[in-house]
Amino acid sequence: MIITYENKKSEEDILTLTASAKLKTVFGGKAGNKLVHGDNLPVLKTLLDRYAGKVDLVYIDPPFSTNGHFKIGDERVSTISSSNDDDIAYSDTLVGAVFLEFLRERLIFLRKLLSENGSIYLHIDYKIGHYVKLIMDEVFGRKNFRNDITRIKCNPKNFHRRAYGNVKDMILFYSKSENPTWNDPRAPFTKEDEVRLFKKISKDGRMYTTIPLHAPGETANGNTGKEWKGIKPPKGRHWRSAPALLEEWDKQGLIEWSVNGVPRKKIFLDEKDGKKMQDIWEFKDPQYPNYPTEKNLDLLKFILKASSNEGDLVLDCFCGSGTTLLAAQELNRTWIGIDHSDHAIKTVKKRMGSIPTSLFSKVEFELLKQIEKKVVTKKIQPQSHFFESANTPAFPVFRRG
Ligand SMILES: C[S@@+](CC[C@H](N)C(=O)[O-])C[C@H]1O[C@@H](n2cnc3c(N)ncnc32)[C@H](O)[C@@H]1O
Repeated sequence: MIITYENKKSEEDILTLTASAKLKTVFGGKAGNKLVHGDNLPVLKTLLDRYAGKVDLVYIDPPFSTNGHFKIGDERVSTISSSNDDDIAYSDTLVGAVFLEFLRERLIFLRKLLSENGSIYLHIDYKIGHYVKLIMDEVFGRKNFRNDITRIKCNPKNFHRRAYGNVKDMILFYSKSENPTWNDPRAPFTKEDEVRLFKKISKDGRMYTTIPLHAPGETANGNTGKEWKGIKPPKGRHWRSAPALLEEWDKQGLIEWSVNGVPRKKIFLDEKDGKKMQDIWEFKDPQYPNYPTEKNLDLLKFILKASSNEGDLVLDCFCGSGTTLLAAQELNRTWIGIDHSDHAIKTVKKRMGSIPTSLFSKVEFELLKQIEKKVVTKKIQPQSHFFESANTPAFPVFRRG
């Protein structure tokens, strides 16, 4: 299934005809972390020379095609602010197919940059997200789709619309291949979980539950199909472990025998590091953000811990206030951030400046600036500039046909 729309370019055209950005170092030339001030499409093309196949994790939180402006003032930042005194931090005025193509172009480059074990998380809202899912399927392959995560973003609101309130957005998670980096993050048990799942108490006061000692499937010749203490695993099943280990567990008091002589393995609450994380997450965004649409830092840390390791390279090409970059910095990952907004770059610099790395040193990063702002994509014929919104000069888009 492929989504079609007017002026959709071929992948080959996007990769070959997009012009690279010329970048100049403002400071920090030798640092591994990079903050790039420029339009992410040509910048991504430039990054291909050095980083193709080398990025371990991408998180992006692009504009959501809201057709609005996001403002930033001295005292507060706001989404769709009405104060005339506030500056526009960024505009989000590409809509419909133009927005989808804008995103698709960037995703095609991001796929090239990702390493074979890499993953991408794309943050989007419920209004445009389902169209974006089709684009993600097309670029990354349906087989590499991992999750559509529901993120609870705020407290319930009193909507006046004739519709249910909206407290969620979505994060589409894809991998580059079948074997992505995965650290199986756990969610802590709630008090309710503990009481429901670990109903038994051992003599020494530890909460525990029991699970069957056998699992589905018969073993043809292996030890796990053999008798243990004169008992064979039930028909169609095999012991979870070889009889020698079951014997060891029994000696250590880790097996509970029922009155009918059925053995089960004890599982202690204090030995579990939580439960499997599911696909509904609650990470509300900051009430007093540094930048409009700034995301929750713990959300980013959670994603980075799940899908990358220390020393890995993390990229966010819509970095805004740099939440992803901060998470990467705090978790010892190397990072690359790109944004075209002056306010975004200023905010990242400020936030990075506030992280103490040691008593005497600051976070090291290279700041690069795109030299020519208006990058003309080479000959996609015939070609004309136009702006999607009548009011706002947004992003130039190139039409074909
Ligand atoms: C939703 S905000 C990202 C917020 C970020 N996740 C945070 O926590 O602060 C989207 C960002 O994308 C940037 N952006 C939009 N189009 C861009 C483009 N073509 N090149 C670079 N940055 C762009 C905007 O300036 C804005 O800062």
